[in-house]
Amino acid sequence: MAYQTIKGMYDIYGDKYRYFEDIDTLFKHFADLYGYRMIKTPILEYTGVFKKDNDTSDMVTKEMYTFTMNGSDYLTLRPEGTAGVVRSFIQNKMYGGELPVKLAYIGEMFRHERPQKGRQRQFNQLGIENIGHKDPLIDAEVIAFGYFFIKTIGLSSIKVCLNSLGDNESRQNYLQALKEYLQPYSQELCHDCQERLAKNPLRILDCKIDSQRDFVKDAPKMIDYLNEASRNYFIKVQQYLTALNIPFEIDENLVRGLDYYTDTVFEVKSTHEESGAQSTIFGGGRYDNLVKEMGGPDLSGIGFAIGEERLVILAQAEGILQELKPGIDCYVINMLDDDPYALEVLNILRANSYSAETDYYHRSMKAQFKSADRKGARFIVIVGEDEKKTATVTVKDTLNKNQISIALSALIDHIDEMMGEEDE
Ligand code: HAM
Repeated sequence: MAYQTIKGMYDIYGDKYRYFEDIDTLFKHFADLYGYRMIKTPILEYTGVFKKDNDTSDMVTKEMYTFTMNGSDYLTLRPEGTAGVVRSFIQNKMYGGELPVKLAYIGEMFRHERPQKGRQRQFNQLGIENIGHKDPLIDAEVIAFGYFFIKTIGLSSIKVCLNSLGDNESRQNYLQALKEYLQPYSQELCHDCQERLAKNPLRILDCKIDSQRDFVKDAPKMIDYLNEASRNYFIKVQQYLTALNIPFEIDENLVRGLDYYTDTVFEVKSTHEESGAQSTIFGGGRYDNLVKEMGGPDLSGIGFAIGEERLVILAQAEGILQELKPGIDCYVINMLDDDPYALEVLNILRANSYSAETDYYHRSMKAQFKSADRKGARFIVIVGEDEKKTATVTVKDTLNKNQISIALSALIDHIDEMMGEEDE
């Protein structure tokens, strides 16, 4: 039997590959606009990079692809980008230069989740991390990067959800209150949440089963436990977002699925029907403790990651990506047998940065015209016996249907001119 991809993992090819490339290009452009430098970290890291003592997130406790090499090194396929970037920030002593350090990444992540639409076991994230300084201006700017990126792609039905998990002091007070409130209901919680109650009751608010129970919905809210510093910080973030005309709503139950967050957390969701259960396009937040916990200096960071597959699904559903130019520049119709003239023409086109394809089957002119049409060629360049003898080509412009015969040496000037007219 022929091999198939592993469950939850997919090939990306054809038009879809192009959509990913176009999104990557726009993301890199945004990174430039906002002053972020691209970084590539290894896909495989020591397990400890992701797994901290007392971790309670599903991602770390249940979903990581972890294995051992030589019986001693525990290695994990990265489930997310933040921890690897922070590891690199520390290892390469980036904190020695000007802070904050602003890094952006694009790459594959791996989580052993139950696959469904918009949820894969291998997926791509576009992310940024801003590490080394804490100021509400930075929080607002990070959210603005993600928000305006999604808007520039053209997605219309999105909403920004915002919450604060408070600084360490606020959170400790809140966790204590939450624990005391939930304790009497402990027997009604699911098996996992009974454990979470002792370790990190915040996770119960995020549990797919228990978050739906009325007594969990009525639990104390983090926002009421913010100390003055955290409350003022959160208010400033909101003021800055308003100044940037970014609409948002406060979601008091937004806690995020990972353990490292403090203060500002956010998610951008799609309200389009196609997004189904996996409506979060991107999420992120501030992390005051992660850099120190991983052995670095006591510096705060903030970032987000966008799920690229989800973005493509939604952009397709909203009919955005299909509008991107899918065709080639030139199709060379080759009516010669055993002759390299068509190859020379192709070579000239490609050397001048025009994408060009031809026929490999010696088919009829009609069949080749059809093929050119299927490939969305802007120009059709015909070469036959006459053209070869006179060192010319026949060029048809598929936009205005004009057809002319010109010297091969004039081909590029002619196409340049036609393309130039199109841009005007
Ligand atoms: P996250 O919320 O776990 O955050 O993932 C970010 C985004 O990745 C999600 O909103 C979703 O679009 C996408 N995603 C997550 N899991 C899957 C999956 N199984 N299939 C498809 N897409 C998925 C993080 O990963 C944090 N590192 C974000 C961050 C950066 N926080 C601070 N800095």
